[in-house]
Amino acid sequence: MKFFIDTANLNDIKEAYDLGILDGVTTNPSLMAKEGITGAENIRAHYKAICNIVDNNVSAEVISTDLEGMLKEGRELAKIDPKIVVKYPMTKDGVKAIKRFTTEGIRTNCTLVFTAGQAILAAKAGAAYVSPFIGRLDDISQDGVELIAQIRIIYDNYGFKTEILAASIRHTIHLIKCAEIGTDVVTCPLKVIMDLLNHPLTDSGLAKFLADHKKVNG
Ligand code: G3P
Repeated sequence: MKFFIDTANLNDIKEAYDLGILDGVTTNPSLMAKEGITGAENIRAHYKAICNIVDNNVSAEVISTDLEGMLKEGRELAKIDPKIVVKYPMTKDGVKAIKRFTTEGIRTNCTLVFTAGQAILAAKAGAAYVSPFIGRLDDISQDGVELIAQIRIIYDNYGFKTEILAASIRHTIHLIKCAEIGTDVVTCPLKVIMDLLNHPLTDSGLAKFLADHKKVNG
């Protein structure tokens, strides 16, 4: 299973990368805005800075919503670095753009996916990644984790190569449930990655080991 971090914050990306478990980064326009990155040139420079930290898989999302604009913007993003994966929303023109880039050998991530039907379209168009948002489904009282299970079955039925990238992960239970199902990738904030480290028995066990060692070794 690949681990991506869902942020545009360079310090968080470095911290996760330093842990030695990071396979990529997902960003979106809200996450870029949160970092105060504005203007095309600054946005490109920020993506480049992210690419300079990690080894591969940096999802960069287009703002355009029409096919021509999506293709133009996607090509500009792809030019920044070979690690860039162009992120397109699940819309009619988004699917067309994904198909076009698939034939050109440019990797894409189909985002804002909330149904298995949308995931089928993304796979048929050849997206490298499909991003179902599980937390946002939970927010409206639908079962986000169940959607990952449904997509897993469908993709395995037909041998679709598109990787399931479980997104909008809010806590470690989301992440672990997705791993049980066999998601290909999880993307989550730094806190969720770091929360995986924690258990009170680990802390108390370590404290006892050190105390016992000190008793006889001084
Ligand atoms: O990158 C998109 C996705 O992970 C958003 O998560 O927490 O804003 O629903 P969230």
